[in-house]
Amino acid sequence: MHAAILFVALAALGGGGGGCVPSERAALLDVRRGFTGDPDGALSSWTGLDTGCCRWRGVVCDNATGRVAELRLCNALADAGSTGLSGEISPAVLRLPLSGGGVASPPPPLPRFIGALSALRYLNLSNTYVTGEVPPQLGNLSRLVTLDLSYLAGLYSADLSWLAGLTSLEYLDMGSVNLNASVGWARDVNTLPSLRVLSLPLCGLTMTPPANLTRLQRLDLSSNAINASTADDAWLWHVPTLTYLDLSGNSLSSPFPDAIGNMTGLQVLDLNGNTMAGMIPATLQHLCLLQVLDMTVNQISGDMSDFMARLPRCALGHLRVLQLSAANVSGRLPEWIGDMSQLTYLDLSFNNLAGKIPQGIGKLSKLTRLFLNKNNLNGSLSEAHLWI
Ligand SMILES: *[C@@H]1O[C@H](CO)[C@@H](O)[C@H](O)[C@H]1NC(C)=O
Ligand SMILES: *[C@@H]1O[C@H](CO)[C@@H](O)[C@H](O)[C@H]1NC(C)=O
Ligand SMILES: *[C@@H]1O[C@H](CO)[C@@H](O)[C@H](O)[C@H]1NC(C)=O
Ligand SMILES: *[C@@H]1O[C@H](CO)[C@@H](O)[C@H](O)[C@H]1NC(C)=O
Ligand SMILES: *[C@@H]1O[C@H](CO)[C@@H](O)[C@H](O)[C@H]1NC(C)=O
Ligand SMILES: *[C@@H]1O[C@H](CO)[C@@H](O)[C@H](O)[C@H]1NC(C)=O
Ligand SMILES: *[C@@H]1O[C@H](CO)[C@@H](O)[C@H](O)[C@H]1NC(C)=O
Ligand SMILES: *[C@@H]1O[C@H](CO)[C@@H](O)[C@H](O)[C@H]1NC(C)=O
Ligand SMILES: *[C@@H]1O[C@H](CO)[C@@H](O)[C@H](O)[C@H]1NC(C)=O
Repeated sequence: MHAAILFVALAALGGGGGGCVPSERAALLDVRRGFTGDPDGALSSWTGLDTGCCRWRGVVCDNATGRVAELRLCNALADAGSTGLSGEISPAVLRLPLSGGGVASPPPPLPRFIGALSALRYLNLSNTYVTGEVPPQLGNLSRLVTLDLSYLAGLYSADLSWLAGLTSLEYLDMGSVNLNASVGWARDVNTLPSLRVLSLPLCGLTMTPPANLTRLQRLDLSSNAINASTADDAWLWHVPTLTYLDLSGNSLSSPFPDAIGNMTGLQVLDLNGNTMAGMIPATLQHLCLLQVLDMTVNQISGDMSDFMARLPRCALGHLRVLQLSAANVSGRLPEWIGDMSQLTYLDLSFNNLAGKIPQGIGKLSKLTRLFLNKNNLNGSLSEAHLWI
């Protein structure tokens, strides 16, 4: 008798303290059942006994409506070697459980997880051990602002047209999701009116279908096999709002496009490891906010003084990182390299630089890394290089 009263009291407390819409709680319990492995006990607080799902770990509810707004299921212990949650995102997580007798019922038109959590704004599964096809039903989460599916174990999507439903999406990271069959990926991304951050590294992308993503601020397409030439007007070079552009590790072919100079907000430009050839364009002068320039492993095949003369003068006071290793640059290193007062990282190794190391280098008081190895520099470093 006593125990029963106590139980009722606790249940009421639980409901009031943690909050939870019952249908959303049921959906979350479905989600939990969908994961077959949880080595770190990430979901151990998700129990049927606790009626207040809003205080379950990884769940954030909207203060005003009490509905589930965020699911933070990412694996924070990935660096420590944990696999995090494991399972198959489709169908186990997103479809209703099997009906009695082990016979699969046909998938309902709207999976319970998706339907019940329609207020979701943030979904982060990064670094977990979830495999399978990215469920197109995600396209029904029209309030989603942030979607991070990066570095899951083996996700793929052959068709990204479901993205069109995510009209509130601002941040999309699908790093390492295999998209090699999604030939229209850029057109699909193009439909997102609010997108500001697009990260698709290691996705097996080869082409850049036509698009005009004119509002993006950050674009990371590194480590794909994109072979857009600079002559074909690829939209990559025409996103005026970009501050961050990482196209490293692709197959971009020569030469460096003049259009880069129109992206005047760029702070980071990473073209490391492509097959671009020729001198950098004079239009680079317009990138007055540039802080990081990485052109490692390209074929610039020109003179270091010419190269430096084309760096944006207006950015010399902010440039922090200049990486130009293995870029086939030759000639002398100009004395005025010392004017790049904020430089912390300078890598000119594996080129054909000759002559003396200019004393100006001693003025780079913030420098923490300097690589000049594998050149033909001669002379010696002396106290004259130390700027007092
Ligand atoms: C919800 O309330 C908590 C605690 O009062 C507060 O820290 C948090 O910022 C609020 N969240 C929103 C989205 O208003
Ligand atoms: C997702 O979670 C990971 C791990 O906690 C974190 O590093 C990452 O920044 C999160 N992504 C977003 C978009 O918040
Ligand atoms: C979204 O939900 C509707 C029902 O509301 C369903 O008909 C449709 O197939 C769903 N779309 C996707 C992409 O799952
Ligand atoms: C796409 O990726 C799959 C899985 O890694 C691979 O088997 C297939 O060969 C790839 N297709 C292309 C065209 O690269
Ligand atoms: C780019 O945007 C303009 C104006 O919104 C539109 O007319 C044009 O068709 C778009 N081009 C592509 C390739 O999407
Ligand atoms: C890129 O590669 C594809 C497939 O290999 C080819 O059809 C296309 O012509 C290439 N584009 C450029 C600009 O080299
Ligand atoms: C840069 O932008 C200007 C003004 O919009 C335009 O006229 C010019 O063609 C662009 N340059 C390149 C190389 O795209
Ligand atoms: C390196 O640059 C020189 C000109 O400075 C050029 O003659 C040579 O062909 C370039 N090497 C390669 C591999 O492009
Ligand atoms: C250094 O190299 C330059 C040209 O590469 C040459 O003229 C000069 O004699 C060399 N100096 C020394 C000390 O070897």
